[in-house]
Amino acid sequence: MDKTLTATTQINRLVVVGLGLIGASFAKGVRDAGLAHEVVGVDLNAQACERAVELGIADRCTTELAEACVGADVVMLAVPVLALKSLLMQLAALQLEHTIITDAGSVKGHLLQAAQEAFGCLPPLLVLGHPIAGSERSGVDAANPDLFKHHKVILTPHADTAPEAIVCVQKLWQGLGADVESMSVEQHDRVLAATSHLPHLLAFGLVDSLAKRSENLEIFRYAAGGFRDFTRIAGSDPLMWHDIFLANREAVLEQLDQYRDDLDELRQAIAEKDGRHLLGVFTRARVAREHFSTILAQRAYVKTMLDNDLVFLASPGGQVNGTIRVPGDKSISHRAIMLGSLANGVTEVEGFLEGEDALATIQAFRDMGVVIEGPENGRVVVHGVGLHGLKPPPGPIYVGNSGTTMRLLSGILAAQAFDTTLTGDASLSKRPMNRIAKPLREMGAVIETAAEGRPPLTLRGGQRLTGMHYDMPMASAQVKSCLLLAGMYASGETSVTEPAPTRDHTERMLRGFGYPVEVRDATAKVEANHELTGTHIEVPADISSAAFFMVAASIAPDSELVLQHVGINPTRTGIIDILKLMGADLSMERVHEVGGELVADIRVRSANLKGIEIPLDLVPLAIDEFPVLFIAAACAEGRTILRGAEELRVKESDRIQVMVDGLTTLGIQAEGTPDGIIIDGGQIGGGEVWAHGDHRIAMSFSVAALRANAAIRIHDSVHVATSFPNFLALCKQVGMHVAEEVQA
Ligand code: S3P
Repeated sequence: MDKTLTATTQINRLVVVGLGLIGASFAKGVRDAGLAHEVVGVDLNAQACERAVELGIADRCTTELAEACVGADVVMLAVPVLALKSLLMQLAALQLEHTIITDAGSVKGHLLQAAQEAFGCLPPLLVLGHPIAGSERSGVDAANPDLFKHHKVILTPHADTAPEAIVCVQKLWQGLGADVESMSVEQHDRVLAATSHLPHLLAFGLVDSLAKRSENLEIFRYAAGGFRDFTRIAGSDPLMWHDIFLANREAVLEQLDQYRDDLDELRQAIAEKDGRHLLGVFTRARVAREHFSTILAQRAYVKTMLDNDLVFLASPGGQVNGTIRVPGDKSISHRAIMLGSLANGVTEVEGFLEGEDALATIQAFRDMGVVIEGPENGRVVVHGVGLHGLKPPPGPIYVGNSGTTMRLLSGILAAQAFDTTLTGDASLSKRPMNRIAKPLREMGAVIETAAEGRPPLTLRGGQRLTGMHYDMPMASAQVKSCLLLAGMYASGETSVTEPAPTRDHTERMLRGFGYPVEVRDATAKVEANHELTGTHIEVPADISSAAFFMVAASIAPDSELVLQHVGINPTRTGIIDILKLMGADLSMERVHEVGGELVADIRVRSANLKGIEIPLDLVPLAIDEFPVLFIAAACAEGRTILRGAEELRVKESDRIQVMVDGLTTLGIQAEGTPDGIIIDGGQIGGGEVWAHGDHRIAMSFSVAALRANAAIRIHDSVHVATSFPNFLALCKQVGMHVAEEVQA
């Protein structure tokens, strides 16, 4: 083993057998990066050998396997899959005990079996691998040392593979810029059959099928982009692919059969003019393709969602001027998708918020078989399936950061015939779900949660829900909405009384869809046996997003800003009332009603704010706006006191603690209390603050910079995309200096 250990740190001789695209690219990459003292190429074709030396792919080349391999540290086999068996036999005869043997073949099960037969056992220095990279080009002339950069390489070590051999091969691939992962041989062959082998089969098959037809010349003359894109891979090496299909027969057949069933369904849909089926397949496929990697990683739905720390750099000063329209209301966007999906007929939504949270709701319903077109420029078309038309999702439904999706959806899912599991990101996984699980269970739902009522939630299907009256212990529109939605499926009446008024979008929208809701004082009531009918919804701009700019234009000197078409539902206007009490100069223009919701243009001018005691009754009406109100308080003269807002501790972050920490860092006197905060206005300084993955915290500190005397760096700002994807662009437009910090 001694020699192998040295090999992990220094490779003297690397032999690459097979100077096709993959082998030659590997050899050239290793040689260019100086990862081995000597790179020797082996190919049966003497011309390829000559060419490889000419192109600087290898130090020397030979047609003699034994001559190259005896005494080599690493041998890479890059030959067609079916040629591997005889190659392994030849290598076994050479008794290369100290040589690491690895390969780049697309099928691993077949190779493992061949190795077993050739060596009589699996050699510890055999490391099976497969780079997920390639091109339709082939041969030594196509060699590209960067072919593997940022591509995945899958290693499939067997149980007895020596760890140092794995490390050695891993380092080689990493040295070429690849990301190395490992998985079992079986999993590899299954995954590759679906993602690589099947599409190649289809491409080869389609081109051949068209070429065979008598009118083929005509067909190819008119073959444009779509045909070219789809069939690009039919230009790949036929021998290589012939081998792959024979070697991975079983896994490919399994994938092919499944695909054939789906193709039959598509055929039938066309024959029967079933447009909904076609639209369903196409819309789902389109999103799946756009968000493939993110869906796979169970992460985000929009690109801005990165794993690493996204820092907003907010430079001090600035004025806030102009006319803007902030994106659509998050609460209304969620509900439009939910009710649209459960309605009979089509619902057209305009002004939809294309943020992460609302996209998570779309994805959830797509997972349950609802055809949803868009969003495109805020337009979404939902093809409702009726109250009882949802289908079981293929797996757990991932709702990202969105508490609203998880809580409202639970009310619907508790009453379905099938089981569902709802999961979320790290922040959502810490948030309390017993507030909905408990009353839903009282109605007869069967719900499992993680410890202390946290997500994931599993809702068991096939339960009969019974209507009930529920006195909500906290003022929560999400809980109220969840129960009203469940109430549409429960026998008898379901009524909810709230301790203080909360947003009533669910009640309004249910009525908009023709579903009767009775609201008397603090109690909302529904009963089963009614239907939702598809409708048109115009989503107003989100007052919660507008709030950042209301505070911005109030605290920045010489500012005047008009926020267009903002939803001013009276259950949401706490921010306006509180700012006015603080002395803000806000006025509403063009107040009118759109689809059951009041909207207005809001004009904001700079003002000298003063500290106040925030009236208790306004707290639920401004529940999402407190982080930015705390910035207003920091800029106000005197003390601002908030009480009765313990709910802030269980939002996307503990908004009291996180704001106290940030404000204190910036030199503002701020003290948290169990249910609120006390802030003394003062001079805001610069510094580093953390948003803790909470969109509204990141945006609030961005606003604070308008009155800071130095820059504020806001860490962990990535979740701004959940509710306000174009926040930075609008900041720039009005004159604020906030930007993503470019990572070195
Ligand atoms: C929402 C209700 C509020 C709010 C959230 C959206 C809704 O949550 O904070 O952003 O759309 O119903 P609670 O119901 O937890 O107060």
